[in-house]
Amino acid sequence: MKFFIDTANLDQIREASEMGVLDGVTTNPSLMAKEGIKGTENQHKHYIEICNLVKGGDISAEVIATDYDSMIKEAQELLALHPQIVAKLPCTEAGIKGIKYLSGKGFKTNCTLVFSLGQALLAAKAGATFVSPFVGRLDDICSDEIELVEKIVQMYLFYGYKTQVLAASIRSTQHIVQCAEVGADVATCPLVTIKGLLKHPLTDSGLQTFLADYKKVNG
Ligand code: E4P
Repeated sequence: MKFFIDTANLDQIREASEMGVLDGVTTNPSLMAKEGIKGTENQHKHYIEICNLVKGGDISAEVIATDYDSMIKEAQELLALHPQIVAKLPCTEAGIKGIKYLSGKGFKTNCTLVFSLGQALLAAKAGATFVSPFVGRLDDICSDEIELVEKIVQMYLFYGYKTQVLAASIRSTQHIVQCAEVGADVATCPLVTIKGLLKHPLTDSGLQTFLADYKKVNG
């Protein structure tokens, strides 16, 4: 399973990258706004900085445009910034058409804002590299989010689609584990949820005992 970090915060991206377990980054307009990145030029510079922090990783940059022609223009500008950029388009009619066009040209794409199996089917048919079901937002409305991830994984296996299932909108460490259990290819998560995977009281108490025993003999 690949780990992406779901932030535009450079310090958090650097920290996750230094842990050695980071395969990429996902951003969206809300995450860019949270970092106060204003204007196209600054946003482009920020994407390049992210790419340079995560060597070889997939970096999703989301288009703002909503009509097909503007989406393609914007996606091409983003893709031209760095070879690691993945164009992130929403699961709308224009977005699916855009993904079909861009994937046909050999570019990586991420179909975002996916909440149903039917949307995931369209994303795969259009040739998306990644499909992003929003686990946390479904959980927020009491919908079975992990069941959706599992159904997408099974459907893609059944038909042999190469689109990778990128579990997005992860809210907890448990979400990561549940997505891994059903075979998601990628989870994009906040840093705190990735670090949550480390936590186990028996690891902490076991380490304390080992260190105390070492000290008893070695001083
Ligand atoms: C990632 O691709 C999504 O944009 C992100 O995971 C959405 O997360 P949120 O529901 O916490 O905003």
